[in-house]
Amino acid sequence: MLFDQLQRQPSDSLLGLIAMANKDPRPDKIDLGVGVYRDAEGRTPILRSVKAAEKILLQTQDSKSYLGPEGDLGFVELVKALLFGDALASDERVVGVQTPGGCGALRLGAELIKAAGPNSRIFVGRPTWPNHEPLIGAAGVEMVDYPYYDRDTATLQWDAMREALMGAQSGDVLLLHGSCHNPAGADLTAEMWAEVASIVSTRGLIPFIDIAYQGLGNGLENDAAGTRLVVEAADQALIAQSCDKNFGLYRERTGTLFVKAATSGAAGIVFGNLLQLARRMWSMPPDHGAAIVHAILDDAALRSDWRAEVDTMHRRIRSLRSELANADRRLAYIDKQNGMFSLLPLSVASIDALREDHGVYMAGSGRINVAGFAEGEARRFAALIAEHLPDSRTRG
Ligand code: LMR
Repeated sequence: MLFDQLQRQPSDSLLGLIAMANKDPRPDKIDLGVGVYRDAEGRTPILRSVKAAEKILLQTQDSKSYLGPEGDLGFVELVKALLFGDALASDERVVGVQTPGGCGALRLGAELIKAAGPNSRIFVGRPTWPNHEPLIGAAGVEMVDYPYYDRDTATLQWDAMREALMGAQSGDVLLLHGSCHNPAGADLTAEMWAEVASIVSTRGLIPFIDIAYQGLGNGLENDAAGTRLVVEAADQALIAQSCDKNFGLYRERTGTLFVKAATSGAAGIVFGNLLQLARRMWSMPPDHGAAIVHAILDDAALRSDWRAEVDTMHRRIRSLRSELANADRRLAYIDKQNGMFSLLPLSVASIDALREDHGVYMAGSGRINVAGFAEGEARRFAALIAEHLPDSRTRG
């Protein structure tokens, strides 16, 4: 029988955590698993600006007829300006299409790389988001590791990373996290970004930047600065962008893939290839999330309200980071990191015990979703993990 040939698959560990935490009846459970923002009441609210845009859509949208594989190019142009700022927004060498979330963008980018250069290699920093490997691997692109962050000393492995990049060949692709590194929370400094830009340009590397949290680290402009610098320096680049977190649209699957080519003519050919690859995988991206983002970014009042909401999210995450750092000096490094995630130096046995004994849910890597604490939970969490944290460490 055909399906008898299939092997049983383990469930995705991050998504499995959602189900496990949801099933736990303990009222004081703390869910720091999957990356969703929660407010002080522990809710993941629909943003005000999103609700307002949905009202507008309800009144004005007059068709659900197909768009093309490129999605809504008006949305793509608005996101392009938000992501790249003035200099690159009008650059005709940069083309983009709408994708089903950042995952769709990563997969489409990997398929483009494979189609353009079947023997291409992509340098992937370790650790990285667990889904990078299957998304990129499924397209058949060879992955080469480079060191990025050491969990047990809470430090960037910058010297080793730079050395690995110096060993890359012209035409190699370099996967980077634009900001709010997932899972480490540790981003490159401005000086390091400048050096990466210079290595990319002198060695002819092709950056592939995953930027899924713009605004949630240190604000919309700061969080895009590294991406802009590297994309400006590179002749060719790919950028997988997501609106799922900064617009709170998670399940609407709203993202874009941008590709910079060496000339506007080459960019036109890239665009045609993107359409064909998208058609093979999902035909056309879902519309609702992109229609919401389009309505918000296209309207001065809604846009400024959304910016204020992003600021609220980023300030809340910063204050939760400080709260953890103040609760235990061994967590001081968390205050210097950005975005939703940080890694804790906990053993698998400790992570299991925290879940079983106290209903504390976190990924098996020790990753916590800092944005997941409701009011008062961060301090309680710091107290619960205190006996599990290594003692002698002075980190960060
Ligand atoms: C996460 O890392 O928790 C999020 O990006 C959600 C996901 O799809 O894994």
